[in-house]
Amino acid sequence: MEKIKILALSGSLRKVSYNSAALAALQQMAPEHVEIVIGDIGNLPLFNPDRENESIPALEQLKSSLASASGLIIASPEYAHGISGPMKNALDWLVAGAEFPNKPIMLINTSPRASHALESLREILKTMCGLIIESACVTVPLLGSGLDQDGIVANWEISNALQTALNEFCQQISLQPRQ
Ligand SMILES: Cc1cc2nc3c(=O)[nH]c(=O)nc-3n(C[C@H](O)[C@H](O)[C@H](O)COP(=O)(O)O)c2cc1C
Repeated sequence: MEKIKILALSGSLRKVSYNSAALAALQQMAPEHVEIVIGDIGNLPLFNPDRENESIPALEQLKSSLASASGLIIASPEYAHGISGPMKNALDWLVAGAEFPNKPIMLINTSPRASHALESLREILKTMCGLIIESACVTVPLLGSGLDQDGIVANWEISNALQTALNEFCQQISLQPRQ
């Protein structure tokens, strides 16, 4: 079976981030034919359109990982009813590039009470012509759980929800016309 490569981005820079832990757990639990690469958006400079033609190593790395991925997973927190600054910054850097449009996207929401940021993130992704795979979007109750990567993997309900969403995502990716 051909390997499916997926880029995963966390919108949190916290060391003990639930969003980053969910992605690390999913990477650990991914089936043999699925490779999840966790990208880094924390080293991107603040978005400045004047710098779009500059060589920025962190941006080049992000663009190259996205270009070679068949899908993108985003797990991002809500801050003051908005999407996280680091995630918005990363998306702004990607807005004008050729890597993003039509890329299948799976969203992981780690906080059931946070709806504003998710709604706003969806709007941004649609504006950027990302292809949100609704059937693969999942909410898992991690906020306040105290679970880290190992705890998520060991929690049957949460790990099952994440794996089911990933399987659906991979299935939908395999149905997409090749770009
Ligand atoms: C400054 C700040 C603002 C926040 N604002 C909200 C909010 O508006 N709504 C919400 O549901 N949670 C809010 N939270 C909670 C975070 O979304 C929550 O702690 C989340 O787990 C952070 O993601 P992480 O664990 O991946 O770092 C806020 C947290 C901080 C630090």
